[in-house]
Amino acid sequence: MVIDLSFESTKTHQRLLSELDLSHLTATQKASFIGRLESGFEPLFTQLYPLYGNCFDLYYHLKVLLQSFADFQKKKRPVQIKDNSEFWFESNKNVGIAVYVDLLADDLGSLIDKIPYFESLGINYLHLMPLYSAPEGNSDGGYAISDYRTVSPNLGTNKDLKDLASALHKKSIRMVLDFVFNHTSDEHRWAEAAKQGDKEFQGYYYFMDEQEASEYNQTVREIFPQIRRGSFTHYPELNSHVWTTFNSFQWDLNYSNPAVFVAVVEEMLHLILNGCDVLRLDALAFVWKEKGTVCENLPKAHNLIKAFKACLDIAAPKVVFKSEAIVHPDEVNKYIGADECTLSYNPLMMALLWESLATRQTQLLYQSLERSFQIPEHTTWINYIRCHDDIGWLWDDAISDRLGINGYGHRHFLNQFYTGQFEGAFAAGVPFQENPVNGDCRVCGTLASLAGVEKAVAQNDPVLLDHAIKRIRVLNGINFSMPGIPLLYQGDDLGVLNNDDYLADPAKEEDSRWVHRKKLTGKDFALAEDPTTPQGQIAKLIRDMIQIRKGNTIFAAQEFELITLNSGHLFAFKRRSANKTLVVVANMSEHLIQLTAPLSEHLGQDSAYNLLSNENIDLLALEKIQPLDILWLTNAE
Ligand code: GLC
Ligand code: GLC
Repeated sequence: MVIDLSFESTKTHQRLLSELDLSHLTATQKASFIGRLESGFEPLFTQLYPLYGNCFDLYYHLKVLLQSFADFQKKKRPVQIKDNSEFWFESNKNVGIAVYVDLLADDLGSLIDKIPYFESLGINYLHLMPLYSAPEGNSDGGYAISDYRTVSPNLGTNKDLKDLASALHKKSIRMVLDFVFNHTSDEHRWAEAAKQGDKEFQGYYYFMDEQEASEYNQTVREIFPQIRRGSFTHYPELNSHVWTTFNSFQWDLNYSNPAVFVAVVEEMLHLILNGCDVLRLDALAFVWKEKGTVCENLPKAHNLIKAFKACLDIAAPKVVFKSEAIVHPDEVNKYIGADECTLSYNPLMMALLWESLATRQTQLLYQSLERSFQIPEHTTWINYIRCHDDIGWLWDDAISDRLGINGYGHRHFLNQFYTGQFEGAFAAGVPFQENPVNGDCRVCGTLASLAGVEKAVAQNDPVLLDHAIKRIRVLNGINFSMPGIPLLYQGDDLGVLNNDDYLADPAKEEDSRWVHRKKLTGKDFALAEDPTTPQGQIAKLIRDMIQIRKGNTIFAAQEFELITLNSGHLFAFKRRSANKTLVVVANMSEHLIQLTAPLSEHLGQDSAYNLLSNENIDLLALEKIQPLDILWLTNAE
C-alpha cells in the first residue's frame, strides 16, 4: 500500500498538537510556535518516515520532540545579532575566522578581549572550535564531547560563553559552534550508562560481535588508519565491538534508533541556547550506516540531516547549518540546499588551489569547479585555504582521468610535494594518517609553511621568500573574491609557521594536525605588525584584501562565470552585478605569462581599475601577467 504522507502528516500533527502542554507559553509564544509547527511539521514528518516509519514507538518520540520545541520557546537566549536579514550570508561584508579559544586567548573570558582584534581584521563570522566538556588528554581537539550542555571547565562556564555571544552580537559578529552529532566521547553519560550494561543506552551506539564488525569493515573506509585498523574498537569487558569511525574514544551514535535522534535534537537546542547563529555539522557524511555499503553519504543520511533542519526551522529558524563534508565533490554538493545545509565548506576548491600551486597548472581546478561550483540559490560556500584539519586530495577521478592524470599517482605526487619529499618543492608540510595498505595519506601544515615561507626563511633565500608570499597573496586573492564566505584559519592571517611543540605532548604527538594548531603568542602578533618581516607582509596583504572586499558590493554579485584564457597556468573568473563586473586573473606559476587576447573582452571595457594595486590599467596594453600575480579588475570609474 502506498502511504499518503501528506495526509498522515496532517493527521499526526493534529493529534500531537492536542496532546502538547502549551500552558506555560504566553499567547504570542504560543501563536508563533503553532505557526511554525504548521509549516514545519510536514517537512519533519516526511523525512522521519523513511527512517523510522517502521518503529512502533515513533508517535511517542514525536511527542517528546514537539514538547521540547514548545518548552524551548521559554528559554532565554543571549542578545541576538541586530542584522536580521534572512540572506545575510550573501553579503560581501562577511569574512570569517576559525579559532581555538585557548590557542588564541586563554579562555572564554579573555577571548572577549580579542573582539577588537576581530573588528580590526574585519571579521564578522567567528567559528569557535569545540569548547564543550571533553576527556582529559586526547579529545581529538575537543571533537570528543562528554557533555554538550557544559562548557569545558578549562575554558570557562556556560555563562562565559553566553556573555561572549552577547558581546560578539553587539559588534555584529556571528558565532559559529560545532554540532558534533556523529559521535560522543566514551565518557558521555550515555556511553557511561552503556558501559554499565544499560540496554537503553547501549541502543544509542553500535555494539556488535566480532563477526558483524568484520562484515561492516569489508566496505567501510578507514579514516584514522594510524590509530587503529577498521572502524571498530573492541571492549573485552563489554564483550563487544563498538563503532568508532574516528578515534577509539569517539563512539558513533546509532541513528537507526529514533530515541537517539530525539535526544540529539535536545542537545542541539542546548547548543543554540548559548547564542550561536550557525551550527557546523561535523562529520555529517558518516551519520547513517547500512551493511554492505561504504556507510558514508547514504541517502538516509540526507533524510536525517533534513529532519534536523526541519527541527531547526520549527524551534530556532534563524540558525543555519554548515556542512562539513570532506568527501567526493558530487557528495559534498548533495548536502547543500534550502532544506538541508545553507552553508558548506568548499573542500574541492581548497584542495585544487594547492594542487594548482604544486603543478603550476589550472586544468584540474577549472574542470572540477566547472562541474561542482554552482549551488542552489540562497546557499553559500565557505571558502577556505587552510583549516584546523589536514588537506585531503578529494576530486572527481572521472575528471582527472579525462585529463590524462592518474588519480592515484597524482595524489601520491601531491603528498610527496607537500611533505618535503619531492625535490625542489617549496612546501614544508607533514604527513597525516598514512594508510599502510593503500598508501593513502593527507597533509598538515600552516598556510605560510605550505606556501614556502618556512623553507625560504630557513634557506635565507629572498627569491623563494618573494614567491612564497606571492603564493599566499594569490591563494587569498582567489579565496576572498570567489562567491562565498571566506574563512581564515587562526594564525594564517599572521603568517604563523608550523610548530612542533605537540611532539612533546603524549596526548598530541600521534596527531600531526597539531603542527598547525599553535598557541598564538604576543610574539606572533608583534611579528605580524612589523612590516619588515614576512609575517608583517602577509598580515598586511590579507588585511588589505578584506578591506577591499568589504568595501565593494561586487563581491556579493551572484552571477559567476569561469573564464578560460590562453595559458594553462592562469586561472580566471568573472562576477557580474547589475552595473559592475569583476574579472579576477591569477597566475599560479613563477613564470611571466603572455596573454594572446586582451582582457577587455571579459570586462566589456578597454580600461580597468585593479582593486588590488589601486591603479587604472589599459587592458589593450596589458600583455603579460606577472609571476604568481593576481588582478582584481573592475570597471574603471
Ligand atoms: C571533523 C573535525 C575533525 C575531527 C573529526 C571527528 O572532521 O573537523 O577535526 O577529527 O570531525 O570529529
Ligand atoms: C576525513 C573525514 C573528515 C574529517 C577528516 C579529519 O577526511 O572525511 O570528515 O574532517 O577526516 O582528518
